[in-house]
Formats: sequence, structure tokens, C-alpha cells
Amino acid sequence: MHVTLDMPAAAPRYYQTFHPDTHSVRDELEGGLCRRDASIAPKFLYDALGSCLFGAITQVPEYYPTRTEQQIMARYADEIAQRTSQARVLVDLGAGDCVKAERLFGRLRPRQYVPVDISTEYLRGAVARLHTAYPDLDIVALGQDFSQTLALPDDVGTEGRLFFYPGSSIGNWAPEQALAMLARIRAACMDDGSGLLIGVDRVKSPDVLVPAYDDALQVTAAFNRNLLLHVNRLLRTDFALDDWRHLACFNAEASRMEMHLVATRAVTVNWPGRCRIFASGESIHTECSYKYQPQDFAALLDAAGFSDVAHWTDPEGWFSVFHARA
Ligand code: AVJ
Repeated sequence: MHVTLDMPAAAPRYYQTFHPDTHSVRDELEGGLCRRDASIAPKFLYDALGSCLFGAITQVPEYYPTRTEQQIMARYADEIAQRTSQARVLVDLGAGDCVKAERLFGRLRPRQYVPVDISTEYLRGAVARLHTAYPDLDIVALGQDFSQTLALPDDVGTEGRLFFYPGSSIGNWAPEQALAMLARIRAACMDDGSGLLIGVDRVKSPDVLVPAYDDALQVTAAFNRNLLLHVNRLLRTDFALDDWRHLACFNAEASRMEMHLVATRAVTVNWPGRCRIFASGESIHTECSYKYQPQDFAALLDAAGFSDVAHWTDPEGWFSVFHARA
């Protein structure tokens, strides 16, 4: 009898290339708060509590994107597996708990898994669990702000890279920034067996969109308002939660959902060396979530240098999953 001994992969490696420089974080926050139309970038929604609240959002009935994407991936799993049969290296952009990528392992059987997230801290638990569950899988974890650069270390395989960017996270970027991001991903595809599997939310009735960003349980309101607690720690501001309410609206012209925090009374926000006065009803813009028509997103993929675009959707046409080849 012939016995094959599986060679376990090397232990997971970690590369942390993103170092949040607190000076630049404070400058960025201050700049946004002091502009006439005040804004705070959506990345500040995700402190530890904010990440938990986002997880809770994905469970509320009104927030359709996560479960709709999952339904599409499950329904078209065979076609997706066929299209991505050359995938050897799965690069997971914004991996978080790595759960979405893990659902692909069964059919895709990647040799290497490369979760990328701004913090390897958050990745560590998930990576340890995956290493135990899939001892043959080589794991290279990257702590990288891939909105700025996408630099893969030398031990990431170059053949058959499949970039995985689920959840419509691309929607936080305006179309021109999204195009730049897609072009960076395309530039990191080193052979024609490489490609991109991406989830994108679609334009639909505000009757569906608005409740998804303003759920009855008010989990999204908590997610948005928690941003102020995070900023209080980062910039030492004195935001009081009672002074701010959550607002979600659909900007049809720009094809995006927007989240704002609206001052419920006249408010002066203080922090070391500075302050900003808000009139009652004045707001801070905290997030854009762009919605696409499938043909428009396919055109972006094309403009970024991808080809042979495949598209899957759900029966109601609420969400899209695309695969494109390098
Ligand atoms: C994680 C950016 C895809 O835009 O739908 C959820 C974040 N904001 N509810 C989205 C979010 C409000 C989410 N993304």
C-alpha cells in the first residue's frame, strides 16, 4: 500500500506595513472637522466596537447586501469555481475574520491564502484558526492599507492570483478612486491565470436602500454615532452622543447612499488647541456607499485593464458578483 504523507505548510507569516502615524491621523481628522462641509472618513467607523457593530448590521433584516452576496456565491458556486479554476493564490482584500474567503476554500483549493487588512492584530485569531483547520495551506497575512498601495511580498506566489474583494467595500470609493483601486489590483496580476472576484451593490429603490442604512433596531445609527467615541479617543474631542443623530439618505444624482451625523442643537466641539462650532441641524458627512448599474461597473473593470467579465446576480437584481480575468 502506498501512503502519502501530507507536507504541512510553513507556519503563517505576518507582514505589517501600515503604521498609523498619529500625527497624520490627527491632521486628517482636524482638516475634515474644520471644513465648511464637515466630514470624517469612513475608515474611522472601524474601531473594535465599530467592527462588532458592522458585524451586527450584517444580521439585521433590512441590510440585504451581505446575505444576498452569500446567496449569489452559493447559487453560482459551480460556475464561479469553473471560471477560477486556475487560482492558486487567494488574496483576500479586507479579510477581517476571513469567513467569506473560507467558504471558497472547498472548491477553489488554493495553495496559498493571503489575507490583507489594515491591522494584522485583527487577522491573527482568524489566521491561527485557519492554520489549524487547513494545515496544508500556506498563509501570508498582510497588515496593509491597500487603498494606498498594494505591495505583495516576494513569498506570495505569482501564478494564478485570485483577488477577492467582497461585500461592496469598493462602494466606499467614488468611481474614479474605485477605478484607481481596480487598476492597482490589475497591476498585481502577474499572469493570465489571475483575476478578480468582487461583490458590488446595485442601484435600486430608496425604499430598499434607505432602511438598509437606517434599520429599525438602530444598529446602523449606533455604528455611525460610535464614530464620535472613536474620534474622541483619537483627537481628544468632546463630542457628546446626545448632540448627534444618525441620518441616512440616497443621493440619486451621485448614485450613492450617504451617512451623516446631524447636530440636534447648536454644538461647540473642543479639542486641544482648537474648536469647531456647529449650528443646530448642521451635519458631518461620515460615509458614501456607491451603488452601480452592472454595465457601469463592468465598464470600470474594462477601463482598469481586466477582460472577459462574468456577472452573476440575485433574482431581484439587488447585488452583483463579478469575475474578471487579467
Ligand atoms: C462595508 C462599506 C460595504 O457601505 O454598505 C454598512 C458599510 N455602512 N452600513 C456599506 C456600512 C452602513 C458597508 N461597507
